[in-house]
Amino acid sequence: MSSEQPSALLSAQRTDTATAVAQPNIALIKYWGKKDEHLFLPRTDSLSMTLDIFPTTTRVRLVPGAGQDTVVFNGEPATGEAERRITAFLRLVRERSGRTERAHVDTENTVPTKAGLASSASGFAALAVAAAAAYGLGLDARGLSRLARRGSGSASRSIFDGFAVWHAGHAGGTAEEADLSSYAEPVPAVDLEPALVVAVVSSAPKAVSSREAMRRTVDTSPLYEPWAVSSRADLADMRAALARGDLPAVGEIAERNALGMHATMLAARPAVRYLSPASLAVLDSVLQLRRDGVPAYATMDAGPNVKVLCPRSDAERVSAALRAAAPVEAVHIAGPGRGARLVAEECR
Ligand code: DP6
Repeated sequence: MSSEQPSALLSAQRTDTATAVAQPNIALIKYWGKKDEHLFLPRTDSLSMTLDIFPTTTRVRLVPGAGQDTVVFNGEPATGEAERRITAFLRLVRERSGRTERAHVDTENTVPTKAGLASSASGFAALAVAAAAAYGLGLDARGLSRLARRGSGSASRSIFDGFAVWHAGHAGGTAEEADLSSYAEPVPAVDLEPALVVAVVSSAPKAVSSREAMRRTVDTSPLYEPWAVSSRADLADMRAALARGDLPAVGEIAERNALGMHATMLAARPAVRYLSPASLAVLDSVLQLRRDGVPAYATMDAGPNVKVLCPRSDAERVSAALRAAAPVEAVHIAGPGRGARLVAEECR
């Protein structure tokens, strides 16, 4: 049993144990490429919708006297890269807090990891909110967004409800100035009742991490710079479409931005290709839906899964069309969801 409180309120309290819930977000204008790998400063601004499905719940408990951090992920001790990223993040939180206690982290994730379903966004947003509260950082939402960014760039956007824009910031000046310049914030959207229909083509972990793939794309793809330039224009168009509540325009811009991002990867050396034949079959079915008069538009991330934006009233029809298009593992219908928040657990 749990009751929820605004994160800004609870993160100001020092509790030594804190639990947070966060959901993934899917970018409509993509983040693809960093200008500072250490600070997680992206090359371009991005814009996303936080979903109301696939929550991650993370509890951080300080353990005075412990020699190291311990991490449990879905009931099993975390190992390898996952453990390394989480303990590096905890070190950063300790540096900021001036406290030295190690922590025990217990995280439950309901989304398949490393499958291009934004598990690192919900994961690091929940960890940032819980760790900031446990170590008493007293951060507001913008501060939590900056902190979440240091775990995984896209996590900066899952701090917020619904639509959020993540500012790329600037790499000049001191590291602190650069860090302060890059954060997400909510974007106003009027009269939109969108659904994002998620076709899980494969939940298997991807062969190339998004981190490695974006690095390779920036370093070697002749299409990267042109995409980055067009993505800036896409963002301006997207903001205008959201402000006037024009869902077909939102979808059209999101689809061209995502296809452009995948084109940059295909042109990388060696190429990175996440889309599978089943992904392409789903994309074909989206085209057919449009020919049939349904305003459905696709976006894809670092994996073969396809997310289809459409009016909420068309979501069931879209879902049925995607299931019929290819042998998909599952189809989920998501709406705009809440940002990361602390939950006060009474009976854990
Ligand atoms: C394709 O946020 O997972 O989903 O910052 O290296 O952890 P790191 O990368 P990550 O990349 C997400 C890339 C994307 C597009 C997006 O979410 O904007």
